[in-house]
Formats: sequence, structure tokens, C-alpha cells
Amino acid sequence: MNNYEKDIEVLFSEKEIQDAINRLGGEITGFYKDKNPLVLGVLKGSFMFVADLIRVLNFELEMEFIGLSSYGECTESSGEVTITVKSPDVLEGIPVYQNRHVLVVEDIVDSGNTISFLKEKIMEHSPASVKVCTLTSKPARREVDIPIDYLGFKVPNKFIVGYGMDYNGKYRNLHYIGYLKNPPSP
Ligand code: IMP
Ligand code: MG
Repeated sequence: MNNYEKDIEVLFSEKEIQDAINRLGGEITGFYKDKNPLVLGVLKGSFMFVADLIRVLNFELEMEFIGLSSYGECTESSGEVTITVKSPDVLEGIPVYQNRHVLVVEDIVDSGNTISFLKEKIMEHSPASVKVCTLTSKPARREVDIPIDYLGFKVPNKFIVGYGMDYNGKYRNLHYIGYLKNPPSP
């Protein structure tokens, strides 16, 4: 373990993450294999997960990204969601969803505000369906009751980092998922 990893307690290893992705791949394939879905990765946190996830989906699909942010410089969600990255084929900040089966891919659902905001935006564009796949979920912090269709892991009420997820921009490059042992108070 490198020095910069000393503050992190490991929750899920690289192997456990890959096993979860293989399981999710099976579940997702069951519903989407003939639907040519639009897979929508939420930046930045989902970039690593979505890259591994689509490689276990062996059917026709398309991929888009959207950047959303509800966090400042700390570990508490501000609750207000802003669009930080727009894709090129977008309409009012959102890709063209009409009559498409949209699979939103997230790194973590915490309060639920981000996913609920995004789902509402997509619904305005008459999609065929919208479902949510998230690698992790922190149910203890939920403010909005939002259904999760495909879930990797439930996580404890800690600040989670690694495998795409950051604290103050750091730790995205870890191969595993863990939590900060001593998070600074917000
Ligand atoms: P929500 O809107 O509160 O559900 O937060 C969603 C977004 O905040 C996620 O997509 C993450 O990018 C970020 N986030 C929430 N909790 C954590 C965490 O424990 N670690 C890293 N990022 C988090
Ligand atoms: Mg995210």
C-alpha cells in the first residue's frame, strides 16, 4: 500500500468489484439486449465503472456522458445539482432521449438528489424507459426515495473513495473501493 493510501480502509477489492460487474452485466443484459439502450454515464465519478460495465454488455448500445455536480469542497451534498459537462448531441444540456431506453450509470447514490434531478430531466424528453444502475448506494443518507434498478454494493455511512470516486479530487485512481478513516468535518 502506498503512503497516499494510508488513510483508507478497504471495503471492496478489485476482484469483488469485477464480480459485481459481471453479475450486473447479466441482470442488465436480460432487459436491454434487444433494445439498443443509451447508456448515460454520470461524470466524473462513474467513468471507471461505466468503462468496465459496458465491456461485459455484449449487445448493441450507445454511450453518452453528462457531468453533474452537487458537491462543494467537502463531504456534504449541497442538494443543488448543476450540469457541469454537456455532450455534443444535446438539447438543453441533455442528450436526445426520445423513444430511447436510457440506462443511467452512477458511482454512488447518496442523498438521491442527483439521480432524481437527472431522471426528471430525461423524462421531459419522452424516453421509452429510464433505469438506474449504481455501483454503490448509501441508504442511510437518502433524502429522496429513488428506485435503484441495478445495484453493485450497499455502503456504510462513510465517505467513499476509489474506483472513480474522489475526495477533493483525489483517490479516483484506486483499483478498490474504501472509505476515509478520518474524514475532515464539513
Ligand atoms: P447525491 O446527489 O447526494 O445522491 O450524491 C450523488 C453524487 O455525489 C455522486 O454521484 C457522487 O459523485 C457524489 N458522492 C456522494 N457521496 C459520495 C461519497 O461518499 N464519496 C464520493 N462521492 C460521493
Ligand atoms: Mg456521481
